[in-house]
Amino acid sequence: MNDQGPIGVFDSGLGGLSVLREMRSLLLAEDVLYYADNAYCPYGIRSREEIQDRSERISRLLIDLGAKAIVVACNTASAMAIEHLRAEFPRIPFIGLEPAVKPAVKLTRSGRIGVLATPRTVAGERLRWLIETHANGIEVRTVAATGLVELVEAGTLSGPAVIEALRPLLDPMLEAGVDVVVLGCTHYPFLRAEIEAYVGERVPVIDSGVAIATRTRVVLGQNGLLGDRVGAGSVRMMTSAEAGPVDGVARLLMPDVPTMVSVPVEDAASARTSDGRRGVTIS
Ligand code: DGL
Repeated sequence: MNDQGPIGVFDSGLGGLSVLREMRSLLLAEDVLYYADNAYCPYGIRSREEIQDRSERISRLLIDLGAKAIVVACNTASAMAIEHLRAEFPRIPFIGLEPAVKPAVKLTRSGRIGVLATPRTVAGERLRWLIETHANGIEVRTVAATGLVELVEAGTLSGPAVIEALRPLLDPMLEAGVDVVVLGCTHYPFLRAEIEAYVGERVPVIDSGVAIATRTRVVLGQNGLLGDRVGAGSVRMMTSAEAGPVDGVARLLMPDVPTMVSVPVEDAASARTSDGRRGVTIS
C-alpha cells in the first residue's frame, strides 16, 4: 500500500463534510477523495442490503482511484456496512463512526442521555451493542430522526423549518430529563447552532467528528500509511448526482471545499481496462 495515496471518505451526501473538516485540521498533509452519494441520499431509510451495495461500490471506486484507507463518514453506513466492507476489501483499513455514547455517559449528571440518529442507525444492533456495553446504567433515549438530513442537503441550516423539525425530536428528550445530546449522524453538526439554542446551554451537544479524525490518524500510523508530505494535501470532491446543485450546498457547509465532479459509481464499476482491472478517470 502506498503511504502517499489519498484517504477515501464517503457519506450518503454532504454530512461527511463535518468529518472532513476535522480531518483537515488533524491530517492536513493527507490527500483526500470525498464521495457524496447524493443520488441515493438519505441512507437512513434504506435497507441494509442497499446501504451495503452502495458502500461497496463507492469503496471500490475509491480504491480504484488509489485510496490507501477509507473513512466511512456516515453513522448509518458504518452501522450497516462496515463489516461487509472489511470482509470485501481485507487489505484496506476502514475507519467507521459510532454515536458518541461513551463520552456522553461520562458527561451526564442526570443519568439520562439522548441520541439523535437516523432510523436505520437507531434500529441497528451496533448502537444497541454500544449502549449495552458502555451505558453503565445510564438511561439512553434514542430518537429516530427523519427530515434533518434533507434540510442539511437543501442548505437549510437555521430558521423555522429547522426548529419545526427539531421540536418533536428534542422535546421528548428534554421532558425525560436528558442533559447530554449526542448527534449520531454526520449531517447533524451542521444544525448544531439551532440544536444548541433549542436545548439550552446546560445541555452539551456532542458529535464524533474529532474522534473519527483522531482514530484515522492512529489507524494510518499503525498501518504505516501516514503521509510524510510537507504542506497541505489536496481534496477532490465527487458526487453521484448532478454536480451543480450539490456544489452550492457543499460550499455553504465548508466554504473552502473544491468544486464537485459528478462521478456515477455504476459507470466506474463497469469501466474496466484491458487487463480486467476497473479503470476510472475523473477530471
Ligand atoms: N450522514 C449519515 C449518517 O451519519 C447518513 C444520513 C442519511 O443519509 O440518512 O448517518
